[in-house]
Amino acid sequence: MLEWLTMSLLIGAAALSEAQYAPTWESLDARPLPAWYDEAKIGIFIHWGVFSVPSFGSEWFWQDWQGSKDPAYVEFMEKNYRPGFTYQDFAAMFTAEFYNPVDWADIFNASGAKYVVLISKHHEGYTNWPSKVSWNWNSMDVGPKRDLVGELAEAIRANHSLIHFGLYHSLYEWYNPLYLKDRNNSFQTNYFIETKTMPELIELVNSYKPEVIWSDGDWEAQDWYWNSTLFLQWLFNDSPVKDTVVVNDRWGIDIPCNHGSYYTCTDRYNPGTLQPHKWENAMTLDLQSWGYRRNAAAVDYMTIEQLLETLASTISCGGNLLVNIGPTHDGMIPAIMEERLRQMGEWLSINGEAIYASTPWAVQNDTLTPGVWFTSSGGAVYGIVLHWPQDDLLTLASVSSTASTSITMLADSLQEVLKFQEGSQGLAISLPPKSAVSSQWAWVLKMEGVNPVASRSHGSLARRFDTLAVPRRFESLTVPRRHRLDGLATP
Ligand SMILES: *[C@@H]1O[C@H](CO)[C@@H](O)[C@H](O)[C@H]1NC(C)=O
Ligand SMILES: *[C@@H]1O[C@H](CO)[C@@H](O)[C@H](O)[C@H]1NC(C)=O
Ligand SMILES: *[C@@H]1O[C@H](CO)[C@@H](O)[C@H](O)[C@H]1NC(C)=O
Ligand SMILES: *[C@@H]1O[C@H](CO)[C@@H](O)[C@H](O)[C@H]1NC(C)=O
Ligand SMILES: *[C@@H]1O[C@H](CO)[C@@H](O)[C@H](O)[C@H]1NC(C)=O
Repeated sequence: MLEWLTMSLLIGAAALSEAQYAPTWESLDARPLPAWYDEAKIGIFIHWGVFSVPSFGSEWFWQDWQGSKDPAYVEFMEKNYRPGFTYQDFAAMFTAEFYNPVDWADIFNASGAKYVVLISKHHEGYTNWPSKVSWNWNSMDVGPKRDLVGELAEAIRANHSLIHFGLYHSLYEWYNPLYLKDRNNSFQTNYFIETKTMPELIELVNSYKPEVIWSDGDWEAQDWYWNSTLFLQWLFNDSPVKDTVVVNDRWGIDIPCNHGSYYTCTDRYNPGTLQPHKWENAMTLDLQSWGYRRNAAAVDYMTIEQLLETLASTISCGGNLLVNIGPTHDGMIPAIMEERLRQMGEWLSINGEAIYASTPWAVQNDTLTPGVWFTSSGGAVYGIVLHWPQDDLLTLASVSSTASTSITMLADSLQEVLKFQEGSQGLAISLPPKSAVSSQWAWVLKMEGVNPVASRSHGSLARRFDTLAVPRRFESLTVPRRHRLDGLATP
């Protein structure tokens, strides 16, 4: 398997390096997606910056406090900080004294993720590396006095060669005077691009060789202002990561969901149906924020069941899952987030063959039983079952058996071949007793020699399956949970 992966990467790389791209979306979009990205399926997103110091509300703290002057933020500052305290004053308190990138890398590895996307610079403009173009507003000059980006890149590359290192980068900066000047000039000038955005993007690529560039903060200007296509032309033709880098779609007004290596469209994008273009569901364990919040309660975090539901629906529909965490100002990954990541890794260590390098199947979720999502890999079809069915009997309307059908459950320690029968509503499968199964959440059936069923006539149940009527208690779970958040909780 690994050999095959390496081979296909090499072949892909050879094909890529011969291509020369023009600074047009038509040309850039024709670049094949480097194979590693689709095979990786799961990444970790890390929101960390000066906003991790107040750690109140969200990573949009500065804007909420001094931009929109939200009373909750104004009051928080009045109550807790001396008069005249500025946002810049928080930077010295960004101490990162417990930041141990080797520990972080070990946690990411244990989560089963195959890539990492660290914030290099959020909308506040503070750079988590010693940027030459961010004088006195970077992690070496003020705060940690360390190269946060470089240290994580090194820890991951040294010990976890299967994890790809990537970076998030915000094109705009809320209060950069040069940006405000360009904006005031209807973006007809490019002081900010020439002296800040472009030099720093090039510096990031040359210094840290990220294999993902997760662009953001693009929405106030057109792609021509950001010089997006010229940057991507350099990235794909001449940069040190030209053969392996992937980029998202946030490169200017109207670009998201239309152009880029893969689409993110909106935050927490999870369409629930198969998409024609590679996409990514960027979501966060804290349901209300991407940056750490000291005032979050346990219920504000996704449960492992919710996380696996999101993972299953995302992967089945051709997406990648980018799971966000928010470390603290002192460099810790909060224990509840670490636990969730380790639980995901535990699940993937049993069920990973249904996920990594899988491809979408003919059907995404079962048309009869809610909460069953399909993937396919190596000729097998995998059914990810989110809810254990009543009486250990699962009916799938989207699957039909053949003479060679064989069904097992990945978490079944005995790897018993499961009994099944065709009924009028579908294929009824007898699961092993739940007590014999090692996994606690979301069970995966490996089905070989089965065919997809587009739709069935929903006649009456065959007599012998009378007890299999869809349990009513599942009805409330048919709609994927969407967490309505304030519009500002944007990464
Ligand atoms: C990374 O995770 C895998 C799978 O859990 C494990 O086998 C391996 O030992 C880990 N590697 C390191 C360096 O921790
Ligand atoms: C690699 O892992 C070992 C064992 O955890 C650790 O001591 C070492 O510092 C790591 N190397 C780097 C460069 O992170
Ligand atoms: C914006 O532009 C106007 C003229 O078009 C100028 O009077 C004003 O000072 C500018 N404001 C800023 C913040 O640059
Ligand atoms: C931005 O694009 C223009 C052409 O539109 C080009 O002349 C310029 O060099 C680019 N700027 C940077 C910093 O790459
Ligand atoms: C399958 O998923 C879609 C999209 O999330 C949903 O609308 C539909 O209800 C699901 N089907 C069942 C049977 O749950």
